[in-house]
Formats: sequence, structure tokens, C-alpha cells
Amino acid sequence: MLRRSEMSQVLSQKDIVEIKRHEGEWRSSTGLRYDTVPWKLYEKAKKLFWDPAEIDFSQDAKDWQKLPEDQRLAAAVLARGFMVGEESVTLDIVPLIIGVADEGRTEEAMYLTTFAFEEAKHVEFFRRWFDAIGEDPQRIYDLADERRKQAGVAFDPTEGMFNSQLPKVMRRVLFDRSPEAFLDCGLTYNQFVEGCLAISGYKLWAQFFAESGGFPGLQEGLHHVRKDESRHITYGTYLCRRIIAEHPELMEFARNRLVELGNYYFRYFFGFPIDREVVRGFFDENGNLDRSKLPPVEMLGLEQKLVEFLATFMYNAWDQVDRRIQVLEKAIGMSEEEALLGAGAEDAERELDTLVA
Ligand SMILES: [Fe+2]
Ligand SMILES: [Fe+2]
Repeated sequence: MLRRSEMSQVLSQKDIVEIKRHEGEWRSSTGLRYDTVPWKLYEKAKKLFWDPAEIDFSQDAKDWQKLPEDQRLAAAVLARGFMVGEESVTLDIVPLIIGVADEGRTEEAMYLTTFAFEEAKHVEFFRRWFDAIGEDPQRIYDLADERRKQAGVAFDPTEGMFNSQLPKVMRRVLFDRSPEAFLDCGLTYNQFVEGCLAISGYKLWAQFFAESGGFPGLQEGLHHVRKDESRHITYGTYLCRRIIAEHPELMEFARNRLVELGNYYFRYFFGFPIDREVVRGFFDENGNLDRSKLPPVEMLGLEQKLVEFLATFMYNAWDQVDRRIQVLEKAIGMSEEEALLGAGAEDAERELDTLVA
């Protein structure tokens, strides 16, 4: 279970329901901050609109028919993983919108309305792709379930990052408005799920397209998704750095939390607990996968291709954890105004190669 600190500011039901806004302090009346990162992201989101329903998947359907089964499986696992993750983040962003709204951060709440809409479009995009190629994503779940039963692996389908942990972290801000509660949203949702998991997932897609070729519809949609996500992660970096600048003592929490999230998420990828050191052991000093160091496929009960995919995914995600910690550490010493503006958030993401739009 993920740790929840004692540092909380718990609101009563009355505090939550009977919010009092001041007639003289509406942000639209006192002046919106067009120079802040959230506002800039909001402006970009309006300009970069796209519609998943307009993507042509007809060639993808033909390419799928020609794809060997092991590559199909790897692609379907990855696409379903993305799709359900997108569904979770669509549902779980809502508490944060309420939290920042109650703090009077209208620019952030306005940006997050585009954020929520984009996550919904991402769900639609992946489901439309599955529909178009004629693959049932539920087959992937059933297959994994079957394997777990055969291997006698204990599994609780209501437990997991998207089933229980992310909702819990996000819902905490419904009643706990401490800096740590908000920071945890940014760490878990934006830094880890989007900044580590999704970014590593795109690398796997790039590898898949390099090997398979084709799939122009999937490639086009992923290009849009990635641009949207780069704004989401930039917002998360803004949020975390704004809080850490004001509460540098929370950097320790941030550091531990990201590592804890990695250990939690990857614990059962191969059917046994697996931490970063184990993952590093699969790779040489240059970061190249050493197949001879992977657990034998017979032991894992997975296809070789899938084992390599998952190992590479974990390695890249851990690499992102380290890099994201460094980005957050740079917030220490920032002034209140710099933190509010979001100084350096976009540059940091550009350096990490996540800011593509
Ligand atoms: Fe998304
Ligand atoms: Fe996102």
C-alpha cells in the first residue's frame, strides 16, 4: 500500500459544501494572469484541437491482418494499457479541478477543463482503434487472467495503480487541502503516470512502428495524444514546483514517493516483486537490453517479445523517475512569483523531450 503522510489538513463536510467566495475577488474581475504557465497551456490547448473520430484507421485494419501474433499481442497489451490508463485519468482528474478551484486558482482550473476533455478524447482514440482493427481489448484482460490462474498468482482486480491508488491519491484533495495532498496529485498523476509510464510507453510505440511499419492512423493519433500529454506533464511540473518552492521540506516526500510508485507499479509485471535494481540488472552499462540476463520465458509464462517489451518499459520508466526528481529539485530556492509564473517548467520539459507542443 502506498504511504499517506500524517501531514494533512482535513476539511469537514461543512467546510467542503459551504464554500464562501468573495464578490470582490473573482479572478476574471481582478485580472487573469496571462503570463503564467497554466494560462499558456490553456491557450495552446485551444489551438491544437483534434478529433479522434476524424482519424482514418482503414489502413491500420489491413496492417493488423498481416501482423504476426507475437507482435499483435505486444501491441494490443500496450494499447489496452494506454486505453484503460486514459480512462482512469479522465475520471480521476476531477477532484484536482475542484481542489484548485477552491483555492481560487481560476487559471489552473480553466486549463484543467481542457486537460479533462483531452483525456476523454484519448480514451475514445484507443477504443476507436481497437474497433477499427477488429481486436477485442477485453481478450487481453481475459488472457492475462487465465495465465495468472494457471500460474496460481494471487491477484485482486480491484487493486492497482488505476483501480485503487490513483483514485485514492486524487480524491484526497476533496477533503485534504494540505500542500502535500496537492503535491501527491502532481507526483502520482503527472510525474509518474504521465511523465514516467506514458513517456516510456511512447518509446515502445516507436520501437513497434520501427519493426512493424504501417499503422498510419495509430501513429497519427499517438502524435496528437503525445502533444496533449506534453502539456499535461508540464502542468504537473508547474504544480509540483510551485508547491516545492513554497515548501522545500516536501522534496523529501516527492523523492520517496516517485520511487515508491515505481516499486508499486512494477511489482508484478513478471509475476514477482521487481525493483529498480532488478530491472537495471537486465541491461548493460550502455542501457542496452541483455537478453541473457532476463528471466527465462518458461518461468514467466510470457512470450519472449512481451518480456523484452516489459523490461524495456520498466527501464525507461525508472530512468524518467531519476530525471523527474532532478527537475523538481530545481524548484528549491525559487521565489513565490517565479513559482506562480512557472519559471523553468517548460524549459525543463523541453530538456526531458516531453514538451513537443
Ligand atoms: Fe491522456
Ligand atoms: Fe494526460
